[in-house]
Amino acid sequence: SVKKVHRIACIPGDGIGTEITEAAIQVLTTLQKTLGWFSSTIFGRLFMILKLALLLGTFEFDFTHLDWSSKAYLERGWYMPPDWADQLRKHDAIYFGAVGWPDVPDHISLWNLILPIRKVMSQYVNLRPTRILEGIASPMANVKREDLDWVIVRENSEGEYSGQGGTSHEDTPHAVATEISIFSQVGIERIMHFAFQTALSRPRKKLTMVTKSNAQRHGMVLWDKVFYTVAKEYPDVEIDKMLVDAMTVRMVLHPASLDTIVATNLHADILSDLAAALSGSIGIAPSSNLDPTRKNPSMFEPIHGSAPDIAGKGIANPVGAFWSAAEMVRWLGEEKAADTLMKAIENVTQAGVKTKDLGGSENTKGVTEAVCKEIEKVL
Ligand code: NAI
Ligand code: MG
Repeated sequence: SVKKVHRIACIPGDGIGTEITEAAIQVLTTLQKTLGWFSSTIFGRLFMILKLALLLGTFEFDFTHLDWSSKAYLERGWYMPPDWADQLRKHDAIYFGAVGWPDVPDHISLWNLILPIRKVMSQYVNLRPTRILEGIASPMANVKREDLDWVIVRENSEGEYSGQGGTSHEDTPHAVATEISIFSQVGIERIMHFAFQTALSRPRKKLTMVTKSNAQRHGMVLWDKVFYTVAKEYPDVEIDKMLVDAMTVRMVLHPASLDTIVATNLHADILSDLAAALSGSIGIAPSSNLDPTRKNPSMFEPIHGSAPDIAGKGIANPVGAFWSAAEMVRWLGEEKAADTLMKAIENVTQAGVKTKDLGGSENTKGVTEAVCKEIEKVL
């Protein structure tokens, strides 16, 4: 068939997760109407007829809404049903908002929703591009748009978030807790190959590897070792190595010296929040949780959390959610739709239609409607 149906599982989750997911669905629906099957404009219909005549593909999104959230957990006692993995595997991709709500301890909410999905769906790559979009300024006075263009490749399946450890003598003065990091040769090799291939696909072909192998002398040393071994297979990639503490300094003082960055689960989690802030706001940064083998659906979400401090006010920045949606659409093979969405986002930021975190005065709805209008114009 010339029409491709992309089945998307939507998990809005908690707080602003629900607000930005709704905004992302609105934008994706506009994209489908404009570029996909159900074109509403005359020009869109003509474009569709032309596409059919040339036997080019058109597409449609089929959204499934999954009510897996802290609110639901508080009412019924569970986040996901027992057959959650089978349900997700019936989809081509997962779109995720955010999880976490003050009434539930954060380690309970994370370990009942997002972390099991990342692990069981073998989404061992968490890809986090950062650049300064049109019309947005870095909070650092001397950093120009062209100075900051990075991709952070975060190991997403093991490391510091392996989930191993335990507590003895809990709730006594003698409480003892362990938190065990796990680094496997296979786990490091696969993330390194992905990172080198990412670097190779970019114009500058530079890869910076981050660890803390001076103080942590086992797992991090294995990281370093595997990195240099895998590097031999990629002679065209220019490599260097940083300790994570010094890396924060380099990101702030010499952003133009960085291109692709690979780091462990915890380190990359922290560095990517810093990267987002340096590029304007945590509200614009996207992430892709990828199973590069494509045996399981990959998951797309903005990097921010549920932001209880601004939830329900309608002021969350939806740009990170839109950029994540663009990454999803690209992963699904719709290059033109992804490019159209990115162009629409940047036309809107360039025109100064921005939320408060970016120094603007618009709300979520205003930015969403502006992006939808731009999508219709771009075509
Ligand atoms: P957060 O990212 O939710 O918020 C940090 C700060 O950034 C807040 O001041 C918030 O208002 C602001 N912010 C975040 N996203 C924004 C947006 N789109 N537009 C405008 N401002 C935005 O991180 P925080 O406060 O540490 O965590 C809140 C909850 O979210 C916790 O329960 C945490 O566990 C959870 N969380 C969930 C994540 C996920 O679902 N992947 C990721 C990070 C945190
Ligand atoms: Mg984070």
